[in-house]
Amino acid sequence: MAAAPVAWYPDAFAQRDAQQQPAWPDPAAVSAVRDTLRAFPPLVFAGEARNLREQLARVAEGRAFVLQAGDCAESFNDFSAITIREKLRILLQMSVVLTYGGSLPVVKIGRIAGQFAKPRSSPVERHGDVELPSFRGHIVHGDLFDAIERAPDPARMIQAYHQSAATLNLLRAFSKGGFADLQSVSTWNVAFVESSPEGRRYERLAGEIERALKFMAACGIDIGRQENLHQVDVYTSHEALLLDYEHPLTRKDSLTGDWYDCSAHMLWIGERTRALDGAHVEFARGIHNPIGLKLGPSATPDEVVALCDALDPDRVAGRLTLIVRMGATRVPEHLPGLIAAVRESGHPVVWSCDPMHANTVTAPSGHKTRRLDDVLAELEAFVHTCRANDAWPGGVHLEFTGEDVTECTGGSQVVLEEQLSHRYETLCDPRLNARQSLDLAFRLAELMRS
Ligand code: PEP
Ligand code: CO
Repeated sequence: MAAAPVAWYPDAFAQRDAQQQPAWPDPAAVSAVRDTLRAFPPLVFAGEARNLREQLARVAEGRAFVLQAGDCAESFNDFSAITIREKLRILLQMSVVLTYGGSLPVVKIGRIAGQFAKPRSSPVERHGDVELPSFRGHIVHGDLFDAIERAPDPARMIQAYHQSAATLNLLRAFSKGGFADLQSVSTWNVAFVESSPEGRRYERLAGEIERALKFMAACGIDIGRQENLHQVDVYTSHEALLLDYEHPLTRKDSLTGDWYDCSAHMLWIGERTRALDGAHVEFARGIHNPIGLKLGPSATPDEVVALCDALDPDRVAGRLTLIVRMGATRVPEHLPGLIAAVRESGHPVVWSCDPMHANTVTAPSGHKTRRLDDVLAELEAFVHTCRANDAWPGGVHLEFTGEDVTECTGGSQVVLEEQLSHRYETLCDPRLNARQSLDLAFRLAELMRS
């Protein structure tokens, strides 16, 4: 066992180096916003975060699968009941495909209701002779390439809080109030998906589920009383990047006395901010929410074990989800060493695959894009490598949208490189559209079954 953890207090991170933070022009204004956020109610409750940890513990034990998906960056401009509903719809469709196809319970986590802050490879963006701060998300500044827009404004953290609260409110209503009822499974198909091959495949599956429900009813099972058939648990998550937002929303749970970051149920640490002695790891170490940790191809077994020791000293199943994002060709080479080292260290982690972030390329048109084939190849390599190394391929972490965008190429209703500009709407990374997401879910269900 590792040495007893060093005592944690919520402000300790401020003594550490915090990467990827905006250069706020006015520290007094940031401080005032932090005070305002500190006085606001929590967005989620500690008990909900504990429930998610228990669900993730089942994933760690190989008895469930976790689907974590949503926008790369949520937008202040694209905020409506429809965009929230469409994202939930795809999440529900994908999880029903995986539950039915893979015969496994699926834990559903959105990258939603707080996924605003973005880490960037370069701190500046240059067009011609003009150089401005890179776009770090609507929680920091505007996305247009303009000096005034790109000036960091801490008041945006308040707007992010309110948008998150409204989003979460609607998600709770949809997931508990009838929309997510399994008896409505066939109504989740979106109009523009219906006529596609994967849309028709989904309709067949929905038909089978409806027949199974009727069969159960005919056998005398009171379908109306089975709560699990009529509502779902949808959890929220985002990258715990912007510490001036996360820290004031961190609260002590009155029941257990433990600290929770009440901005979301699950928080993750990104590939660029996972330094062992950095502020983000120090912050995440002391909050009791389930934590995700992104691992790129440079992560070494020793480094990963040290991070697991820091973030999960008590070896609690469901506490830590390791999200590998290496690129298809690198998975078979790098993942086995990580799996072996983590197993040896005794941390009961969830292994999840982010097949998006190491497969980003620039198309000749200049658009950042991802090929669905590369995404699927990484997912397949992940499942095979986990199996070959006696680890449970427990989850997938995706960037998607419920809209009919053209940001990633490929899929059965092929999006070609020349078509990327038709509906390229993302604020940051290219997302799978509704059809590509459904396509991926069917292929993943096949993989899990095989
Ligand atoms: C992201 O998930 O949007 C992201 C930036 O990921 P990563 O830290 O893995 O690059
Ligand atoms: Co992204």
